[in-house]
Amino acid sequence: MIKYKSGFGILVMGLVLSSPVVLADHFNGHVNVKIDALSIPAKQGQKAFSNSCASCHGNNGEGTLQGPPLIHDIYNPGHHSNNAFYSAVRKGVKQHHWPYGDMPAQKGVGFSDMTAIVTFIREVQQQNGIVTRKHQM
Ligand code: HEC
Repeated sequence: MIKYKSGFGILVMGLVLSSPVVLADHFNGHVNVKIDALSIPAKQGQKAFSNSCASCHGNNGEGTLQGPPLIHDIYNPGHHSNNAFYSAVRKGVKQHHWPYGDMPAQKGVGFSDMTAIVTFIREVQQQNGIVTRKHQM
């Protein structure tokens, strides 16, 4: 009985100790994004992004508590191609890189908005020093 109790105590302690780790990851995901002048298609993408993606990915892709930053090195074009963006929007994404849960498919986003969104993300990535690197993860 005593053994069981102390085992339980350790389990509880483990849960308490491990939750800040998850939170830390959460906030590590957030980045400061700077935006310079954008091309016209990118501006169009910015609008579509703020309608359909910003609630989770932040106004400029800096991330929120609901979703990861897209202006982040793991989304550089060598690791997540434009097709990964199209697929994420069409089919959704199972949680795999972050602790935010799954991304639901965004059915309302048409192809031209999608193309503009990718242009927006890529321009802002470049403005923030995110460049194509080979897939290593
Ligand atoms: C309801 C919240 C939510 C919305 C709205 C949302 N996303 Fe996501 N998105 C997520 C989450 C959460 C992930 C992270 C999944 C993981 O890797 O753990 C993600 C991941 C992604 C990825 C990475 C895909 C991959 O292959 O790893 C891309 C690209 C993306 N989102 C683009 C978009 C775009 C573009 C929009 C708007 C059209 C959008 N998202 C709207 C929550 C959202």
